[in-house]
Amino acid sequence: MESSIIEVANLRKVYRIGSEKVIALNSIHLTIQKGEFVCLLGTSGSGKSTLLNMMAGLEKPTKGTVRILGESINAMSEKKLAKFRQDYLGFIFQSYNLLPALNALENVSLPLTFKGISKQVREKRAAKLLDAVGLTSHIKHKPSQMSGGQQQRVGIARAFAANPEIIFADEPTGNLDSKTTQEVMELMTTLARKRNQTLIIVTHDREIAKFADRVVRILDGNIDGITLQKETIGVVE
Ligand SMILES: Nc1ncnc2c1ncn2[C@@H]1O[C@H](COP(=O)(O)OP(=O)(O)OP(=O)(O)O)[C@@H](O)[C@H]1O
Ligand SMILES: [Mg+2]
Repeated sequence: MESSIIEVANLRKVYRIGSEKVIALNSIHLTIQKGEFVCLLGTSGSGKSTLLNMMAGLEKPTKGTVRILGESINAMSEKKLAKFRQDYLGFIFQSYNLLPALNALENVSLPLTFKGISKQVREKRAAKLLDAVGLTSHIKHKPSQMSGGQQQRVGIARAFAANPEIIFADEPTGNLDSKTTQEVMELMTTLARKRNQTLIIVTHDREIAKFADRVVRILDGNIDGITLQKETIGVVE
């Protein structure tokens, strides 16, 4: 389909530890549309992170393919894949993964240094994003000088800085209280919507799943069901 941005076909991942075999993903088929907000929902060990990591090209599947923007990421060399990730993909982690020695502004502008953008433009863009996440007063703060929610907002600003087509987030609110979780979810949704970016979030929390357009339930390495919550496909604003 013309507007599909990610196509997962026959995806399988088997981990081997000695003689033990874990089928983390059985045979996954999934198509995600541009601008969609998809939630991968499931209990611990169901295979959510494995699926996200394969879709983001962070891990190699045992079988099957992932196509992003029409290109098979499995066929790419490591070098090409790294460049592809830099150009099109953004990541938000549960543990924030900010660089401790850098302040908020530097953390957010870092992904832009690889894009050949001048320091002045980088910092201007980073400051604008930090403003969008409500952290104008904290641009000089280092991660250790911020709360968990503030650090995650920096993490969100950083993921959006390079304006990626797709943003992947694995339990992005896993370390936050319920009020901050709501704020962070609303922030991610609003930012992605505004720019028609595709958002894929892994969670075990049904409250978080409520924000998504579509919920893909994962059970024992399989898709157990898909619920369409909001119609985004074919909607033109
Ligand atoms: N590197 C690995 N080596 C061996 N087994 C692994 C590895 N990574 C994941 N697994 C196994 O694959 C299965 C799926 O793991 P995965 O991390 O995808 O689950 P999850 O749904 O993200 O769980 P959680 O909610 O706890 O993060 C689990 O049984 C896990 O033990
Ligand atoms: Mg996980």
